[in-house]
Amino acid sequence: MLEGSQVRLRPPTAQDAALLFEWYQDPELVAPFDRYEPDTIDTFAAGLAGAAHDPNSLYPRYAVELRATGTTVGCVGWYRAHPVLEYIDVWYLLGDPAQRGKGLGREAVQLLVTDLFRTQTVHRIGATCDVENVPSARLLERIGFRREGSLRSALFHHARWHDVYVWGVTRSEWPSPPKA
Ligand SMILES: CC(C)(COP(=O)(O)OP(=O)(O)OC[C@H]1O[C@@H](n2cnc3c(N)ncnc32)[C@H](O)[C@@H]1OP(=O)(O)O)[C@@H](O)C(=O)NCCC(=O)NCCS
Repeated sequence: MLEGSQVRLRPPTAQDAALLFEWYQDPELVAPFDRYEPDTIDTFAAGLAGAAHDPNSLYPRYAVELRATGTTVGCVGWYRAHPVLEYIDVWYLLGDPAQRGKGLGREAVQLLVTDLFRTQTVHRIGATCDVENVPSARLLERIGFRREGSLRSALFHHARWHDVYVWGVTRSEWPSPPKA
């Protein structure tokens, strides 16, 4: 359990599978970060349960819940993004659009990255985001990630290829405590 001031990150349970699966199957929610998977609820639930033991898993590793009410509003994950290079990429989703723009995503990613630097040996944590995904780019910049470059035509959604920015932060750059 990772506790912030507004949200907590907790491992997903079998009871979370239906809601998270619904988000994963909504192309409008997941297309900007390419997580559309033609799972069934059963394969999704199995993937969710197995994520903790698989460093390459793209399934959610934490549910994001509001501390005040216990409502599940999003999920976050991480994975080994490269077969040779040693870094981890993070991803994040607030499944309920009404909860966006309140700093919840920012706090969730700060909790995740802080925990990864505490529990993993990597010295770099990265993220990629569609160049058009302004909220995601702002979030990363605000918490201390640097924009390191871009990849052209690396993401396909809404019937065309999209360029993505590559972001990263190193262990020595990561602020402790995290930026307000
Ligand atoms: C990306 C996401 C997690 C951000 O979560 P959030 O809780 O809304 O983030 P924050 O409230 O911390 O806002 C992040 C920044 O984006 C800005 N922002 C939010 N919505 C915006 C919009 N529609 N247009 C421009 N800027 C916007 C905020 O003002 C904030 O910038 P600031 O820190 O300079 O004020 C959320 O928008 C989301 O789930 N998007 C869909 C999934 C996704 O794209 N995931 C990332 C894939 S790379």
